[in-house]
Amino acid sequence: MVTVAAGRDAKSQAANYPTIIDVCAPCHGTDGKGRDVETPNLAGQSGIYLYNQLMAFRNGTRRHPPMKGIARDLTDNEIKAVVSYYAILPPP
Ligand code: HEC
Repeated sequence: MVTVAAGRDAKSQAANYPTIIDVCAPCHGTDGKGRDVETPNLAGQSGIYLYNQLMAFRNGTRRHPPMKGIARDLTDNEIKAVVSYYAILPPP
């Protein structure tokens, strides 16, 4: 399960984000906003949804080669960390 701390704003989030976010930021931003039309916003998305998508990319049930390559290298703890980070950002 994913635990989510409530009530953080983008600034305090950005000040102490997990280093793994560096991998995601070129496409999804540190603010969780997709950098182009093909990249979905992650900010404020349901944590359970984000977690399930990352697991699905990792095990290949959701097919998207770039995200599979990225998710394949994430540990369970890294997935929990990115999910907790993005889920509590304010939605765009
Ligand atoms: C090279 C660019 C790129 C990088 C880097 C990247 N992503 Fe993605 N991500 C995408 C694209 C493009 C999609 C849309 C996939 C699709 O169309 O199915 C996506 C989809 C997702 C989704 C599903 C969102 C939804 O609404 O269903 C999640 C969750 C996600 N990425 C998390 C991450 C995380 C966490 C990282 C870092 C560990 C990361 N991504 C790194 C490009 C990227």
